[in-house]
Amino acid sequence: EKGTYPHYMLKEIDEQPYVIRRIVEQYFEDGDIKIDQEIVKAVKEADRLYIIAAGTSMHAGFVGKQMFEQLAGIPTEVHISSEFVYNTPVISKKPLFIFISQSGETADSRAVLVKIKQLGYPSLTITNVPGSTLSREADHTLLLYAGPEIAVASTKAYTAQVAVQAVLAAKVAGKTDLDLSRELAIVANVMESITDHKEQYEAIAKDYLTQRNCFYIGRHVDYYVALEAALKLKEISYIQTEGFAAGELKHGTIALIEKGTPVIAIVSQESVNLNTRSNVKEVKARGANTVIISLRSLSSETDQIVIDDVHPLLTPLVTVVPTQLISYYAALQRGFDIDKPRNLAKSVTVE
Ligand code: M6R
Repeated sequence: EKGTYPHYMLKEIDEQPYVIRRIVEQYFEDGDIKIDQEIVKAVKEADRLYIIAAGTSMHAGFVGKQMFEQLAGIPTEVHISSEFVYNTPVISKKPLFIFISQSGETADSRAVLVKIKQLGYPSLTITNVPGSTLSREADHTLLLYAGPEIAVASTKAYTAQVAVQAVLAAKVAGKTDLDLSRELAIVANVMESITDHKEQYEAIAKDYLTQRNCFYIGRHVDYYVALEAALKLKEISYIQTEGFAAGELKHGTIALIEKGTPVIAIVSQESVNLNTRSNVKEVKARGANTVIISLRSLSSETDQIVIDDVHPLLTPLVTVVPTQLISYYAALQRGFDIDKPRNLAKSVTVE
């Protein structure tokens, strides 16, 4: 139920701190991560992970790739489900296929599952819906515990997908310096500090998103969040939005920058701070209206949105939240049907 909320999307954005806490409750016990040994074994035995997903779930997969590679040292590829069947990569000797899907019903992903099962490969589904098709048909399932997601625009499922991949990667990695349950608790608090102050996102949507187009830019993991932020803005506000690797701008896209074009940059990693900021200067010099979303330790005085620090591997969980709110308010200000945007269905059950 929506309760006092005007839209499911806003409710689901606000639920994210609770979802992260629930994931900690479900997956941690006495300082240890509880995941079925069979699943841990399947991941450990794999020489390569193939993440298969669509839309927002694929964007979560990109973030997961970094976790599996950096924490657990397992090479990981991310594939668009609908392309995998045609652009099939050379598959390694011991692959594990990981299907990420909020609904567990996405037909494009199912088509890949059917194909890889025929080839005899093992599979794991990470989904919000127990008993869903992808869950039933894969060898293993990990649940998101995000609660029902009703709005077509996915928000809490994305953050849950990122968090559950972090939990799995940390489990497989074994003992490291990362105290994940503690770091996720910090994430939940930081999320709450963002959702508690919505006025600034409403103002950014109003003051900056005045044109029919918009760009999100970032480097490193911020690039992946830029892709997700762009999808969220376009699908509900119908503003043509693209997410770009900040360094790619000068290879073509910068030609589109004119007076007033909104460009929103995400800066959450020390290694990208200077370079992303110089890309912001480049577009600003060409007339763009720029917004910077940064972590406090990397922030400069003029940044419009400053978020408290979280562990560097977990920044997408917090940087995405302002972008969800900006999308929500942009759609609200335009008077669109936020929970049911035109031409879209909650789960896409045709290929
Ligand atoms: O249920 P799934 O996670 O498999 O759905 C995948 C996409 O259809 C979904 O994430 C879609 O991109 C959302 N509308 C994005 O907000």
